[in-house]
Amino acid sequence: MICLYLRRSLGGADWALFLVVFWVVVTIKLFLRCNVKLICKECCACELVIILKSSVLCIKVPRKVGEAIRKKLNSMGVLNRDFKIDKDDIYLFFPVTRYLSEDELEELKNICEVEIVEREMERCKSRPRSFLDILRNELSEEDLEFVRRSFDIIGDIAIIEVPEEVYRLKRKIGEAILQVHKNVKTVLAKAGKVDSEFRIRKLEYIAGEKKTETIHREYGCTFVLDVSKVYFSPRLATEHWRVASQVRDGETVVDMFTGIGPFAILIAKRVNVTVYAIDKNPHAIKYLKENIQRNRLKGAVIPILGDAKQVIKERLSGKADRVIMNLPEKAYNFIEDACLAVKPEGGIIHYYQFASEPDPEGKVVKILDERVLQSGRRVVSVLNVRRVRPYAPHEWQVAVDVLIR
Ligand SMILES: C[S@@+](CC[C@H](N)C(=O)[O-])C[C@H]1O[C@@H](n2cnc3c(N)ncnc32)[C@H](O)[C@@H]1O
Repeated sequence: MICLYLRRSLGGADWALFLVVFWVVVTIKLFLRCNVKLICKECCACELVIILKSSVLCIKVPRKVGEAIRKKLNSMGVLNRDFKIDKDDIYLFFPVTRYLSEDELEELKNICEVEIVEREMERCKSRPRSFLDILRNELSEEDLEFVRRSFDIIGDIAIIEVPEEVYRLKRKIGEAILQVHKNVKTVLAKAGKVDSEFRIRKLEYIAGEKKTETIHREYGCTFVLDVSKVYFSPRLATEHWRVASQVRDGETVVDMFTGIGPFAILIAKRVNVTVYAIDKNPHAIKYLKENIQRNRLKGAVIPILGDAKQVIKERLSGKADRVIMNLPEKAYNFIEDACLAVKPEGGIIHYYQFASEPDPEGKVVKILDERVLQSGRRVVSVLNVRRVRPYAPHEWQVAVDVLIR
């Protein structure tokens, strides 16, 4: 009827215009599920008003029980987070993702009377969940393929690998990380291979504040470090904790490759011990000393600058209840020295090595067992073997804890 009336009262051009607008409205409504109002001001001056609201399934409850209902819907996993919770003077309207089952409704009815309604609800502004969400709008599909999904965060510095194919886009990648990770102030890109002695690599500034020093927190300890001068990996946090939690009061520990001291500091923070913390990198020892002060561990952690081989031979022979050997690419060269450090009555060695599949664990246990024997000691028992993290395709950093006599 309305159509017929309009057809007759509108001229040919106006009628055509009306049809076009009508189909635009219907299409938008169908595809965007938006609520669209068409207001005809004067005969042929049509104005299109699109309200960014959608008709959504809602649970209508009295305002006074809002919090209890919100928690309940949340625990049921049906709260629709794409829309804002709405209210009028008496009721709250919770958007939900589906019709509730009888049982679920019963649960809600135990709290109050509920009604299921359809209502126009306002959409929440969507925030990007990852830096890749931002890049999806800025980079081509092809470029996006090359962007690394993960990166390390040390303190407020993010370190990401940027492959050659997307090197020209490094600033965009850095900015996207800064935008999503509000705790990150600087983004650096890995540049070059890891140096074999101090385990550090060149880093290139790509976004944010120009700096390389930061403060990192791990299990209640604070570590100040310069990511361009010393080794540190946040991926070892669990390993630092795993070892630290085994140490008992009164022990003497030798941390042969201490870096800035994540094992040493965490151990000394937990229990009453003496930790000799050795490293060859002067920057690592400088930061270790600062970290000892920051964590108030003067006297408990003794920083020693030097080669672990020499230091043990000269100062630490037969002193240790426990030795930590986290130098995975070369530790097998130091097994004899670790054995020398362990007390004559025996002690524990936490040994790390990279090893390839198949059976990386077996390979590492075998090498350790043989070398301990060659050093005139023996492995009494293998206390624990675990893959700490992948190192390269089909290659793992393996941790083996052994008791030796
Ligand atoms: C893989 S990092 C481990 C650092 C620390 N343990 C950690 O978990 O973060 C190895 C450390 O051993 C040090 N290093 C390498 N060769 C050494 C040697 N012969 N004697 C003492 N330290 C050495 C490096 O400078 C580096 O800081």
